[in-house]
Amino acid sequence: MSQEELLKEIEAFSASSAEELEAFRLKFLGKKGLIKDLSATIKDVEPSERKAFGQRLNQLKTAVQEKIDVLKDAMSSNEQAGGPGVDPTRPSGEEELGSEHPVSMVRREIEAIFQRIGFSIAEGPEIEDDWHNFSALNFPEEHPARDMQDTFFIEKNPDMALRTHTSSVQVRVMESQKPPIRIIAPGRVYRNEAISSRSHCIFHQVEGLYIDKGVSFADMKQTIEYFAKAFFGKTKIRLRPSYFPFTEPSAEVDVYWGLENETDYRITKGTGWLEIMGCGMVDPNVLKASGIDPDVYSGFAFGMGIERIAMNRFGIGDIRMLFENDIRFLKQMKGAW
Ligand code: PHE
Repeated sequence: MSQEELLKEIEAFSASSAEELEAFRLKFLGKKGLIKDLSATIKDVEPSERKAFGQRLNQLKTAVQEKIDVLKDAMSSNEQAGGPGVDPTRPSGEEELGSEHPVSMVRREIEAIFQRIGFSIAEGPEIEDDWHNFSALNFPEEHPARDMQDTFFIEKNPDMALRTHTSSVQVRVMESQKPPIRIIAPGRVYRNEAISSRSHCIFHQVEGLYIDKGVSFADMKQTIEYFAKAFFGKTKIRLRPSYFPFTEPSAEVDVYWGLENETDYRITKGTGWLEIMGCGMVDPNVLKASGIDPDVYSGFAFGMGIERIAMNRFGIGDIRMLFENDIRFLKQMKGAW
């Protein structure tokens, strides 16, 4: 075979497997390969021809090596694309979708319910000053009421803390908007509490605030009743007297959950009633501190914890599950709503 013919053979070669390619390499470049054999014959070549002979051998060697490189490349990119016989026009397999976090589901549902009756959504900072988190909300300086909510303070600035409740947003909204005010404020809050199955140092609340002329306690009750019906599908609520520095009178709201099965007994501690929020008429001191005239306006506020509601809604026994983001847990929430 002439060198030209060999070059043609190399050029025409193609391999469909790694084995075929290896056989090709051995045939030319192996220890007993063609190029070795031909190199051994150089001594029989006329001395004046030896240089040209050597060059032709080198050309062959280069051609073989290049061919091997090209085929190897093609094989590995084919492998990446999914192996031989890949049809790139085929529709891809079904993508697995993630699921919404239960806390987000509950927040979104609460937002939707209040938006239907004219509430809009407000926000405030999570790192808050003493004024908005405490003082303007009628927590006197050095007053034990401040200990109701264990606080994470910012070390470098004792006036700043992680907000302990979304009630701080009430103050911010009243400072910046004129009544009528109708807002809900969902968000993260922080308390310096030991983590257990029922309590966590980070959680979420939804605050509500309604300020206008002539707003009464009956308006508040009606609004909460509407919410309880829309969210829980339960029609019976009760208000128990309570205390918050920023509302007067204050109440805690229970919804009648029923006692039909074992779970009902567990989550209502055998009473049939489930506590869902705190509420009350905005204290005149708070209106004043926020620049609203309490002789003209009145209003109500409420606040609820999202995790607590999510736990009841989905039968989650341990609040920590809502923060671990274990994919096996979250997967079960797919389509839960
Ligand atoms: N901020 C209160 C809490 O975190 C809840 C609340 C909000 C109570 C508004 C009354 C009115 O416990």
